[in-house]
Amino acid sequence: MLPSRLLRFSAALAFLHSAQASTNPFTQYAVDFPDPNRVAAGNLPKNLAGAEDTIVAWADEMNSYGPWSVTFKQVLAPSGDKHDYMSWAPYHWPNCTGIPNSASFTPPEIWEKCPYITRDGEANPDRILINDFQSFFNLSDAVLYNSIAAVLQGTPSSSYSQNVAKFIDTWFLNNDTFMNPNLNYAQMDRGPTGQMGTFTGPLDLRGMAKIASGILMLRKTKNSDWTEARNAQFVAWCNKYIGWLQTAPQAKSAAAQLNNHGTIFVSQLAALKLVVGDTNGAVSLIQGYFSGIFKGQINSNGEQVPKRSDPHTPIPLSEFNAGGMITNARLLSYADPTLTPSGWNATTQQGATIQKAMDFLMTVNPATSQETNVTIEIYPNIAAVASAYGDASGKYGTFLNKSGFPYANDATFLWDQPLAGGDLAAESEANHTGSAAGSTSGVPAPTQSATNKTKNGSLSRFGRLELGSWAAGVLGVIGLLY
Ligand SMILES: *[C@@H]1O[C@H](CO)[C@@H](O)[C@H](O)[C@H]1NC(C)=O
Ligand SMILES: *[C@@H]1O[C@H](CO)[C@@H](O)[C@H](O)[C@H]1NC(C)=O
Ligand SMILES: *[C@@H]1O[C@H](CO)[C@@H](O)[C@H](O)[C@H]1NC(C)=O
Ligand SMILES: *[C@@H]1O[C@H](CO)[C@@H](O)[C@H](O)[C@H]1NC(C)=O
Ligand SMILES: *[C@@H]1O[C@H](CO)[C@@H](O)[C@H](O)[C@H]1NC(C)=O
Ligand SMILES: *[C@@H]1O[C@H](CO)[C@@H](O)[C@H](O)[C@H]1NC(C)=O
Ligand SMILES: *[C@@H]1O[C@H](CO)[C@@H](O)[C@H](O)[C@H]1NC(C)=O
Ligand SMILES: *[C@@H]1O[C@H](CO)[C@@H](O)[C@H](O)[C@H]1NC(C)=O
Ligand SMILES: *[C@@H]1O[C@H](CO)[C@@H](O)[C@H](O)[C@H]1NC(C)=O
Repeated sequence: MLPSRLLRFSAALAFLHSAQASTNPFTQYAVDFPDPNRVAAGNLPKNLAGAEDTIVAWADEMNSYGPWSVTFKQVLAPSGDKHDYMSWAPYHWPNCTGIPNSASFTPPEIWEKCPYITRDGEANPDRILINDFQSFFNLSDAVLYNSIAAVLQGTPSSSYSQNVAKFIDTWFLNNDTFMNPNLNYAQMDRGPTGQMGTFTGPLDLRGMAKIASGILMLRKTKNSDWTEARNAQFVAWCNKYIGWLQTAPQAKSAAAQLNNHGTIFVSQLAALKLVVGDTNGAVSLIQGYFSGIFKGQINSNGEQVPKRSDPHTPIPLSEFNAGGMITNARLLSYADPTLTPSGWNATTQQGATIQKAMDFLMTVNPATSQETNVTIEIYPNIAAVASAYGDASGKYGTFLNKSGFPYANDATFLWDQPLAGGDLAAESEANHTGSAAGSTSGVPAPTQSATNKTKNGSLSRFGRLELGSWAAGVLGVIGLLY
């Protein structure tokens, strides 16, 4: 018997409290698409200063790891081409029993010659030998946060936008270090029957929605580091990769999944279409999602379906999918702000909206869905729902406040607006109403707070946040979720 709804809700709160003992605001959320126009419009109210500080500090932190490139890894893809992206299916282990001479195999021989078997939920640690997936996660946060930091800086050029240019050049464009525009070896099976990427591979590049948001921001603010030439090269790369996403068997299979794979495939492809200027294509793709697989994704009580069909990872991954649904709604609203119904209005066959799904998740202890590793993912999703549907009864604000999570200092508080919280809550609503519609020509005036935190040393407010190692654990683990 399940405990009553109320009891489960209390259990969830108790759990969240214990998990928050040490909170790091640098969270590598799975997928998001901050509205580039809203951020580019500038003139942000002062109560967003905590979020701004986190974003600038996170950009500085990421800058110490970049640039990234698939050519930096020590292991080559089966093609032998250093420009090929590669990642290994996480739960696969070699079984060399009965394979002649296997005792003397080198690791590459094992990867090729031993059959691989699946061990339920047990990730093979050797996957980090090729950290293309982690590099891309970091790259996508680096591009997004540096782009926002560049907008906050308010100058046509800054170290932040120069970093974006360097990171995009290194991963996508430079002759020596570019990535081939395909995922032929993503989430690859190993062994004699493997050596090709699988349908879970496209999820590795879900950060593309963050990258698109950052680039669209730099374009909107006419940032001088995002040059015409660089833009043209990047658009050309994206067009080739879009071609792969629309034709490769692994990609078609990903698109056909009814769960988070299908949802987030749309997030990625729609974001790319926006980058290349195919706004109509993005709109119809996302509309196809909301009239397609979304229809079957939420039950009347708000529970997300289907569960994972994959027998070795029977995880619903509700938070992950919720982030994808929210991202798709955001992308659609950006692509066509006047569209009604919007993605936020979309209902499933059983009459549920995205809001209903989050209302349900708020009552569930993450342990029951084996999502304790991604507990933190619930906060930005709740904030997103509160900002899209309103919080008249204050239930979302109350949940966030009681959680102990310092959401007003979280990066996502910058765009999950209007939402109560922060130092000067009253000013938030006043100044954000309609700001997304405000079109800027040229570079917006810097805000007072942004002018003062050009570099690490001036991040005064940041000092009050307690930095812990918790999110570092979250980071590593999110990469495992497929
Ligand atoms: C709100 O925006 C107006 C201009 O649109 C500006 O004059 C005012 O200072 C802003 N308030 C805050 C608190 O940022
Ligand atoms: C800012 O922080 C980054 C990473 O923590 C570091 O590499 C860089 O030198 C710092 N810059 C300044 C001006 O302190
Ligand atoms: C490993 O391979 C051997 C030989 O083919 C087989 O008998 C055994 O069942 C395999 N182990 C697992 C766990 O699949
Ligand atoms: C990515 O960033 C995390 C910190 O957020 C760091 O621990 C990790 O080493 C970085 N990995 C790469 C490949 O940049
Ligand atoms: C990059 O490679 C292409 C084709 O190999 C070549 O034509 C071009 O000159 C190279 N560019 C640079 C900057 O090396
Ligand atoms: C659509 O959602 C908006 C808020 O996002 C709301 O104002 C509007 O009433 C909704 N329309 C329908 C038809 O549900
Ligand atoms: C993630 O969750 C699984 C099962 O819920 C657990 O076994 C594992 O230790 C967790 N990992 C981390 C880093 O918390
Ligand atoms: C949550 O806390 C913030 C900041 O203290 C406050 O502005 C907001 O009104 C609170 N929300 C609710 C629903 O209590
Ligand atoms: C930085 O902030 C202080 C006080 O908050 C202000 O006096 C100073 O003018 C600001 N500096 C810049 C460059 O805006």
